[in-house]
Amino acid sequence: MSKERTLILLKPDAVSRGLVGKLISRYENKGLRICAMKMIKVSPELARKHYIAHIHKPFYPELEAYITRDRLVALVIEGESAIAVTRAINGATKLEQMIPGTIRGDYAASTTENVVHGSDSPENAKYEIGNFFTSEEIY
Ligand code: RTP
Ligand code: MG
Repeated sequence: MSKERTLILLKPDAVSRGLVGKLISRYENKGLRICAMKMIKVSPELARKHYIAHIHKPFYPELEAYITRDRLVALVIEGESAIAVTRAINGATKLEQMIPGTIRGDYAASTTENVVHGSDSPENAKYEIGNFFTSEEIY
């Protein structure tokens, strides 16, 4: 077990639906610490950087349109096993596997529009955090 940092995105649907406070509470209630937070409208360039692993997949155009269509809230969250813990809070990727009680299980109605993002490994977390935040913005 070790202390980790992860990038969480409250995606454009989370912001437009007024879910920001409720979602942040889920991470804070679990004992995780917010060490950076900003609202940002993601450019197509940043979308391609962030989703570099998905850029050649058939769903990428839909994913880019979704993530760039409006502002989102980006956070760096820190805690013991923060990557696995936040991904458990977020829930499964596929709509039919999203379990009630998780964020996606409770709020997402499609596989693409799934409300939140969480990094999936320490290496990717470092890369993704660097795309959204400078070191001076992380407390
Ligand atoms: P995330 O990266 O956002 O935390 O989600 P994840 O690990 O559960 O899912 P990932 O496989 O990394 O996919 C990234 C995002 O692409 C969209 N997606 N659409 N239509 C589809 O088949 C499909 N599959 C993935 C979702 O917005 C997903 O979060
Ligand atoms: Mg992912």
